[in-house]
Amino acid sequence: MNNIFKLFLSLMLAFTFALHSEAKEEKKKPKKKITRETKQSKEQREKEKSEALKFTAKLTPLKGTTPAQWRVIWTGDAAREATISWSTAEKGKTHKVYYGETKEFGSEQSCQRNGEYTLYKSEKGKVSSAYYHHSLIKNLKPSTKYYFVMESDGVKSKTLYFITAPEKGTDFSMIHGGDSRSGHLARCKINVKMAEMMKETPKIIAFAHGGDYIVSGKKWQQWRLWLSHNELTNGDDGRVLPIIPTRGNHDGGPLYKEIFNIDEDQPDWHTTRLGSDVAIVTLDTNVSGGGPQSKWLESELKRLRPQSKWLLTQYHRPLYPAVKGPPAHTKIFCPIFDKYQVDVGLEADGHCIKRTIPIKGNKPDPSGTIYVGEGGLGVGQRKPNNKHWYLDGGVTGSEHHVMLFDFKNESLRIRTVLLNGEIYDDHKLTVRK
Ligand SMILES: [Fe+2]
Repeated sequence: MNNIFKLFLSLMLAFTFALHSEAKEEKKKPKKKITRETKQSKEQREKEKSEALKFTAKLTPLKGTTPAQWRVIWTGDAAREATISWSTAEKGKTHKVYYGETKEFGSEQSCQRNGEYTLYKSEKGKVSSAYYHHSLIKNLKPSTKYYFVMESDGVKSKTLYFITAPEKGTDFSMIHGGDSRSGHLARCKINVKMAEMMKETPKIIAFAHGGDYIVSGKKWQQWRLWLSHNELTNGDDGRVLPIIPTRGNHDGGPLYKEIFNIDEDQPDWHTTRLGSDVAIVTLDTNVSGGGPQSKWLESELKRLRPQSKWLLTQYHRPLYPAVKGPPAHTKIFCPIFDKYQVDVGLEADGHCIKRTIPIKGNKPDPSGTIYVGEGGLGVGQRKPNNKHWYLDGGVTGSEHHVMLFDFKNESLRIRTVLLNGEIYDDHKLTVRK
């Protein structure tokens, strides 16, 4: 009896041990899986990093007073003015730009604003800062190719050029996109894609960026990389695509204004005129839409609508979102858009492809505004919620993309172009009578 009991006890112990071991194994399984997945994604990350290096190896290094990270910025009259900006690793003493209609230039302009990029507290002592230089050039001729060279303490850049907007008329194109904040390899690829598009379609004269350039707007290290990657948007003949900037929710801190030459005491909203027939009113969804911003918006649209064949607005957070909930700005901005018949709202932040049906008075209306976006310049894509009434009859998707706007007197063609060149959406608006 005693032996039988001992045997029973041993069997029970063995069974309990087996069960426990199995449970342990089961617990281990997901751990193993997670470890393997993490390792894979790390490998993937490393692979992407080395692939991105192939794109960036030839970019101008930030060294000494060599002009690097150049950009042309449009926040005003794009037919007659532009800000030419660049960075240097060392402070330097004299910074100027030579420019003109030929490679002999003929005009020069010293930088009106120079300064040190602000380092975030965690970067101080660990990351080298750099210096920004902004030269606002004025009295340019419309529809004209302007060659320029930047010079810092005698060190010159290569010769580059950009094309000013027309005085009037609409026979030109523009790229819009947002959210280049992560996915550095995809960011490099989409930048190269934009350079290719500019070569195929020389009528493209501007790049409206909808914001969220980087993950943490206070970190110079991240902006430094974005600014260098931006060189990939240059044509191989030295053509630079002027940027019409927007502040995104990831772009907080002083660097945004330091990079895009916006005065410290000025708001981040501005109007860019692409000639007398096209206007892009850029808004800031990081601050209240009411008060000074809505007053300014109303006065701008009132002024611009009678003059403009095409009136567009640009801001970061979507007013008719495909992924997230709407911001408080929807109820403030949209009635003003309705009143002045804005043609298109350019949106970002959602990380997807979207084109709404025309909306007016928060209802479907063929005479209303369409809202397009929502950002695919490298950031991981999200799944849109197609249940929204304003997407029923519109378009959604989840792929890296830019939007190409072809302005004409009678029509505006809006194409969503994917990284592989495929046209995901091709939509045409007819001019308002
Ligand atoms: Fe965002």
